Amino acid sequence: MSTNSDAGARRPVLALVGATGAVGTVMIDIMNARPSVPWGEVRLIASPRSAGRKITVRGAELTVVALSAEAFDGVDIAMFDVPDEVSAEWAPVAAARGAVAVDNSGAFRMDPEVPLVVPEVNADQISARPKGIIANPNCTTLSMMAALGALHREFELRELVVASYQAASGGGQAAIDRLYGELEALAGKEVGVRAGDVAEALEAAGLPLSESPFPAPLAFNVVPWAGSLKDEGWTSEELKVRNESRKILGIPDLKVSATCVRVPVVTTHSLAVHATFAREVTVEQAHKIFAGQPTIVLVDDPTAKKFPTPVDVVGEDPTYVGRVRQALDFPNTLDFFVCGDNLRKGAALNTYEIAEELVDRL
Ligand SMILES: NC(=O)c1ccc[n+]([C@@H]2O[C@H](COP(=O)([O-])OP(=O)(O)OC[C@H]3O[C@@H](n4cnc5c(N)ncnc54)[C@H](OP(=O)(O)O)[C@@H]3O)[C@@H](O)[C@H]2O)c1
Repeated sequence: MSTNSDAGARRPVLALVGATGAVGTVMIDIMNARPSVPWGEVRLIASPRSAGRKITVRGAELTVVALSAEAFDGVDIAMFDVPDEVSAEWAPVAAARGAVAVDNSGAFRMDPEVPLVVPEVNADQISARPKGIIANPNCTTLSMMAALGALHREFELRELVVASYQAASGGGQAAIDRLYGELEALAGKEVGVRAGDVAEALEAAGLPLSESPFPAPLAFNVVPWAGSLKDEGWTSEELKVRNESRKILGIPDLKVSATCVRVPVVTTHSLAVHATFAREVTVEQAHKIFAGQPTIVLVDDPTAKKFPTPVDVVGEDPTYVGRVRQALDFPNTLDFFVCGDNLRKGAALNTYEIAEELVDRL
């Protein structure tokens, strides 16, 4: 990889917008770990706050530049790992300058003219991008898509009931900092034994709830809330799981009910999935399908108490599946537990895989 625009004339130029954030940082780790990359140049872009910062990518020290229209000149693929409103404004600018924008935010996911892509499920949709924009699904939906896509191909998914156990890092760097701050402030204290004592201890330590990205203490707790309030008590995150699952799997009338819960885990989202199919499916059949899917690791040995947990999966590319059971009271239904690193497959890795798929389809 070269680092100046002249040397990369024949190889695609990749821009990473949001290079300094939680997802952008993992994106750089992924690029550094790849045996080779197809890029003639990588351009790192963030807010003016980070302009001038040096970050090493594949042995070359690159300088972060501030987001501007000119920053996209000569760019073939621009990956956006920035807040929704920044993507909404700037992904079309990148596209107008000739780049294909691959957006990780929620700004374009449900736009009918923007494909929502998980390469192992619907890579064929990458070429149909009338706006020059491709969207990456949200991390919660993505964590179960490899498993559900593989089962849907064989048994035809009809209904989906999920409960998520979402890591703090799904809320970005500020949310990670808050969880560590709470854990540090409460370490060694006897809390969680009386209603309200955790919030009081945090307030006393200078961490009032009013300054938290979470609506309740996350340390020593679980919080049944992710995203913002939408109609009839649903959260935006729960509706994303419903709408994005339908779009990715191509099942517009898929019945979906999700409850999204934040847990005091730094990284890796987990989901308890209850999936009903048109045809009967056994645990043995599901095991065979999961074992044959390269982006899934099956860890399912109940007698040895082997199953995936988030701390085993953080930093891993595949999603992990276990606790596969045939529902006792529901026909054609499987229950299983899935863990996926929300910053890797749930965000940076899937976006990067889309960019790699794009190289031959520019
Ligand atoms: N965290 C996850 O698990 C996850 C999963 C899937 C999708 N996503 C989505 O990915 C996106 C990034 O999330 P994150 O967790 O990485 O957030 P983050 O840690 O807060 O990082 C945000 C990045 O955006 C940049 N940025 C913010 N405002 C900007 C502006 N006005 N102009 C240019 N750059 C700006 C920041 O640059 P500075 O450092 O210069 O401020 C930083 O690089 C979000 O849309 C998020 O919803 C996140």
